[in-house]
Amino acid sequence: MLAQPRTRRPLGYPESLERVVQTPGGTVISVRPILPEDAPRLAAFHSALSPHSIYMRFFSPHPRLSPRELERFTHVDYADRLALIAEIDRELVAVARYDRRAESSEAEVAFVVADPWQHHGIAPALLELLAEGAARHGIDTFGASTLLDNRDMLGVFSHSRFHPSTTMSGGGVVEVRFSIVPERRTSEAVERTC
Ligand SMILES: CC(C)(COP(=O)(O)OP(=O)(O)OC[C@H]1O[C@@H](n2cnc3c(N)ncnc32)[C@H](O)[C@@H]1OP(=O)(O)O)[C@@H](O)C(=O)NCCC(=O)NCCS
Repeated sequence: MLAQPRTRRPLGYPESLERVVQTPGGTVISVRPILPEDAPRLAAFHSALSPHSIYMRFFSPHPRLSPRELERFTHVDYADRLALIAEIDRELVAVARYDRRAESSEAEVAFVVADPWQHHGIAPALLELLAEGAARHGIDTFGASTLLDNRDMLGVFSHSRFHPSTTMSGGGVVEVRFSIVPERRTSEAVERTC
């Protein structure tokens, strides 16, 4: 069977973030940066989310993405704004994104995984790749606004190799913040001071 022809990639599209990843639980996902033509699939993916998942992501009922949101979510510059999609058997199962905070080296991250694929280690895998993509563009810190009762999202951050700090910001929202810059090992730090 002939391979499907690849569509032309937008300027700045980071092909090196196209990966096949196996999560610790054995789920195999194909990850790639989002493309403008993903808009119809993203709309369908969002519409199929449970009201609970949508609430956890948007903090309000939001059954459908507006055309403007679809445009914004699928048109990224791959530097200050990046979204990664995960697919299983060509089905869109998760989206992770970062948006750089204006004039800073910090970016806001957000994740959403299709309900049947939650708890398979997909968000942790996407967090790693997002951090890799962000670091290339001088982003050194990730932040996220998460509902206090979103144990799954908070669990992803706290079980990651990063060291998140949390502060309550009112309204049941927790601000999570962590450096994505690899820490120098103590022995390296000592060697350099000798
Ligand atoms: C929150 C969300 C993105 C997590 O994605 P996920 O791919 O399901 O993440 P995980 O597979 O790691 O599942 C989270 C679970 O793993 C746990 N976990 C993650 N890494 C772990 C580790 N190394 N060791 C132990 N537990 C771990 C979490 O605490 C959580 O608990 P569980 O044991 O009940 O499964 C997903 O549930 C989702 O899309 N929710 C709706 C949208 C949303 O809340 N978005 C966040 C807005 S910022």
